[in-house]
Amino acid sequence: MHIEENIALAPHTTFFIGGRARFFVHAKTADDVRDTCAFARDKNIPVLVLGGGSNMLVGDAGFDGIVIKIELDGIVQDGGTLVAGSGESWDKVVAYAVEKKLWGLENLSGIPGSVGGAVVQGIGAYGAAVGQTLSWVEVFDRDNGEIKKMSNSECHFGYRDSFFKHDNEKHIILRAAFTLSLSAAATISYKDLAAKFSDSSVEEIDIQAVRSAVLDIRKGKFPDLSAEGTAGSFFKNPIMSVADASALKQAYPDMPLFAMPETDGVKVPLAWLLDHVLGLHGARVGGARLFEKQILVIAADRQTSSVDVITLARDVQKKVFDELKIKIEPEVKII
Ligand code: EPU
Repeated sequence: MHIEENIALAPHTTFFIGGRARFFVHAKTADDVRDTCAFARDKNIPVLVLGGGSNMLVGDAGFDGIVIKIELDGIVQDGGTLVAGSGESWDKVVAYAVEKKLWGLENLSGIPGSVGGAVVQGIGAYGAAVGQTLSWVEVFDRDNGEIKKMSNSECHFGYRDSFFKHDNEKHIILRAAFTLSLSAAATISYKDLAAKFSDSSVEEIDIQAVRSAVLDIRKGKFPDLSAEGTAGSFFKNPIMSVADASALKQAYPDMPLFAMPETDGVKVPLAWLLDHVLGLHGARVGGARLFEKQILVIAADRQTSSVDVITLARDVQKKVFDELKIKIEPEVKII
């Protein structure tokens, strides 16, 4: 294991923003993770676990501790189960599953980032979420140095949420297993997908066609990372009680609402409110702007300061609160 010093973090994030890390390690094995954590403990410095860097905004001051870039790789198939290293690219795992005609991940095609990041963030898109297929994760416990398995229910998945978002990087994910379906089971209820398959019956939809449709829809909605930076949706959609959501719907009858299966809440589409109620299309601070094709996404020009992104985000938060009395939270992790 080689510990580097004073490493620029911007190239390790999809925002392409952020200062330097005091120490930086490329962890390729569980032993690398263990040794790095021992080093951090000896020096009494904080640890930041980095996957694909696709859901974080690093401040211009960087990180005064050690960054562990997770690079544990490998995808192994055992019947309908895929076990992937936490550093594998998420979309590589999805492509692998689609290739093998294993159903369950195809709606999550094209999401940037790593397998570990996908689990921590509880990623979801187009009617699917990672918690629906994950069967277990293997984690390194920083407190006692043990490697153990945690089941799906121990991961406490919620809307863009998991146990690992709240454990102060105590558990570092090493591998994740997904139990997929060998028989066709297309989920195309999400509006954008339903529109693509309006002429087909669900039974005849091919898994590759679902992946292609999702990739196609996403292409229209996300900035091109080769030209500019982003971390996808910057905020979470607010979850409201049925009563509060209905009151809002009375004020704005055209607003769609989304049921949240397994919760009592309703998901309110923040993008719709920013667009149709607050008229925020085109909002910009310096090099950061609300993305024209999906207003919940912040896009940043190259060389943009984290301050521009944060200022824009605070302006949006304030406008939403002043006008609608709704408190919104970032979906992106801010370092
Ligand atoms: N809308 C607008 N204006 C816009 C964009 C959207 O009015 O500029 C409307 C849409 O017409 C739709 C509603 O707002 O009625 C919701 O939009 P969309 O379907 O694009 O979904 P979203 O709620 O904005 C969420 C996820 C995305 C995920 C999509 C698709 C969150 C925070 N975001 O966005 O995830 O790709 O659904 O499933 O839940 C991410 O987490 O980084 C992310 C990109």
